[in-house]
Amino acid sequence: MDMVQISPSILSADFGDLKGEISKLEEGNADYIHLDVMDGIYVPNITFGPPVIEKIRNITDIPFDVHLMIDRPERYIEDFVDAGADIITIHEEATIHLHRTIEEIKSHGLKVGVALNPATPLDNIEYILDDIDMVLIMTVNPGFGGQHFIPSMANKIRTMRRIIDDRGLDILIEADGGIKLDNAREIIDCGLDIIVVGSGIFESDDIAERTEMFRAL
Ligand code: DX5
Ligand code: ZN
Repeated sequence: MDMVQISPSILSADFGDLKGEISKLEEGNADYIHLDVMDGIYVPNITFGPPVIEKIRNITDIPFDVHLMIDRPERYIEDFVDAGADIITIHEEATIHLHRTIEEIKSHGLKVGVALNPATPLDNIEYILDDIDMVLIMTVNPGFGGQHFIPSMANKIRTMRRIIDDRGLDILIEADGGIKLDNAREIIDCGLDIIVVGSGIFESDDIAERTEMFRAL
């Protein structure tokens, strides 16, 4: 497997100085910027939406990995496309029209990911694996930064890896939540392609250096 890619979540960044924070991620060679969109319905927290993402798009060329934690994401796909998303990830649990929404995202020429909450079985995405570019395994319950990695998710990642390899699929596996310097190696070795890191980066006094440290793992 190639080197793991890093997708820093700006959820834990200083929003009063987003430009400064993002320039540090550029300095640290972040592969993506992970944007956590929350609607207060699908998850018990509210963050930001398309207008904010559109403004951030003007200050960096790093690809945007947009994680939609919103109910019925099909209502807003076009807005996130127009805002400058490169990958749009929707939750399996958030829509009853998963396949249709995947196709809509792809019709705009974007990459598409599907996220699974910790309690959601991998079986739920069996029939759409041929249609997606990425699986996002939530390793905490979505809604907040700074939570602890749920240990049983290590096996979920391993099983996902095995399914992808057995079926010969070209799908990336991303994990999101509770990934820190001291557990990242172990989690990556379960078979990840991309790690999302929020507090594990932004709690550092040197965000650029910390980003590089994760990449170097
Ligand atoms: C949680 C978000 C995560 C979060 C990760 O709902 O999807 O992206 O920002 O933050 P840490 O790395 O602090 O767990
Ligand atoms: Zn996320």
